[in-house]
Formats: sequence, C-alpha cells, structure tokens
Amino acid sequence: KQPLIISTDPGIDDIAAMTISLFASEFDVKMLVPTWGNVALEYTLQNTLNLEEFLHTKVPVVAGANQPLVAPMISAASVHGKTGVAGYDFPEANEQLLVPGLAATLMHNAIMDSPKKVTLLGIGPLTDFALLIKQYPNVVENIAQIVIMGGNIGRGNHSPLAEYNIAGDPEAAQVVFHSGVEIKVAPLEIGNKTHITPQQMEEIKNCGEVGKMLYGLFSHIKEPDGDPRIKIFDPTAVALILCPEAFVIKKARVEIELAGRFTYGASVIDFMSGQPNAEVAVDVDLEKFSRWFTNSINQADQG
Ligand code: BDR
Ligand code: CA
Repeated sequence: KQPLIISTDPGIDDIAAMTISLFASEFDVKMLVPTWGNVALEYTLQNTLNLEEFLHTKVPVVAGANQPLVAPMISAASVHGKTGVAGYDFPEANEQLLVPGLAATLMHNAIMDSPKKVTLLGIGPLTDFALLIKQYPNVVENIAQIVIMGGNIGRGNHSPLAEYNIAGDPEAAQVVFHSGVEIKVAPLEIGNKTHITPQQMEEIKNCGEVGKMLYGLFSHIKEPDGDPRIKIFDPTAVALILCPEAFVIKKARVEIELAGRFTYGASVIDFMSGQPNAEVAVDVDLEKFSRWFTNSINQADQG
C-alpha cells in the first residue's frame, strides 16, 4: 500500500477526494491535515473530523496552517458555503482523532518513520507542505511524490490567470515546485473537463449513504454560467495516482508568479523547458475517469 498524507481544505470536492482516498485499497492514509483555504481552519478542521465520524474511519487529524505564508487570505465560501460543506449535515464529531502538535513536525515524523516513501496529496493551498519542506529539508528523501490539484495552463478561476489553490498561497506553491521532489499536477483544466452530468449525479445518489452524502454536497454547487454539469476538482488529483491511464501527461517546468501586479499566483507552465520539475495532466479520458469515480464512491460506501 502507498503511504499517503493529505493536505486539504474541505470544501465540497475535498470531501469527495478524502472519502475516496480513505477507502482506496491502494492507500494507507497516515494523516489528514486540514488547512485554511476554501474557508477558515476552524471549519476545515471540524469538517475533517465530522467526515471521519460519518465514515467511521480513524485516521489521525492534525491542524494545519490558519493563514498563508505571505499572501492575503482569500475565501471560497461563496462556492462551498459558510462552513465549507453546505448541502449535507454531518454528525458532530468529538475531537478524539485530533493529534495536538505542529503539522510540519508531525508530518516530518510520520514521513521519516515510514519504511516506504510517502506520497503527499495537496488539494488545498500548499502552506503546510511548504512549511514542512522549509523546516525539514531532509524530509524530501522519504517523499515518493507530491500530487497536487492546482494551477492552470490557461485562464484561472480565482483571478484571470490564477487558480484558487495556488492563488491562496503562491509563495508556498513556489517552495513546493522548487523542492526537487517528483511532482504531479492535475490543473484546473482537468477539473473543468471532468464535470459531473445530471445523469452521473443520479448514479452517485444511488451509491448508498456515501453516495447520498456526496450528492447532497455536489447539489449545492451552482455553476455561474448555468451549466447543469458541475465541476469538482480535487478527486482528479486522486485519479492521477490511482487511475493514471485516464490521463495524457506531459513534463513541464512550473513556476509561480510572485511579482506580477495582475498575475500574482499564476502558474507559468512551460512545456518547452529543458528543465522540467513536474508532470502535468493535459487531457483526460472522460469515460475512464467517470467510471473510476463512480466505482470509487461505491467502494467507499461498501467500506
Ligand atoms: C480548488 O479550489 C477549491 O475551491 C477546491 O476545493 C479545489 O481544491 C479548485 O480551484
Ligand atoms: Ca480543495
């Protein structure tokens, strides 16, 4: 099994990505690290604990960062609701799974203690992974790969040229892309393509209690252009690990714009560079992806 640590800001699509990961037979999820992001840490932390209460899983939860390294805080409450998980009433968890301590230190210890190299999955702003790498540079030796939902090849969703997770903490993202670790990226364009059709929504609704929960959350998302197909991004990064055959992947050099007046937080993805630092998904086979997605939800429901 692949040891996995998830940095997440639940967030509706984060809940889907975590749910799938927690029940994937390929993963041994070591730790969940909710961070500030879509909404404030107090909500993302509670949402993570509540999700585990709902799923009856017991993965340790460690509180991540409550703000970006340098950038001003942003919020996506307009998409995910005030608490981050509008559309479903989770049972209120107690705090038993919450492990006290600094996320960077606890991640470092878990990674160094692991006999197998650990995969890091980043589906929110990358603040905590940057703090980990800055504080414990040697940790990279035992990281297998960092897999990210974030960045954009073309236009952004937070600003004209920046995607939300990277825009949330551009300085942190730049630390991660310069870490020397193998990096895989599911950029915005992939999530834009894997939108869920009303017919798929019906299938999801029929995947037991887990399906009903995800159906409730997904139903809250309203596309601004009125498209009945809704976009959920974070599971695409999980698919990049578990269903790589669904993707066309290209090597690229990824740099994050930290100085631009209008382009702050933009990911500059150069497919022509002779010095690639990442593998970026540039296309996805919709049929393969949706089959994987629905099967994974079913698998999670059967627990
Ligand atoms: C990303 O931003 C967040 O709102 C989602 O959870 C996802 O991680 C998409 O740009
Ligand atoms: Ca997210």
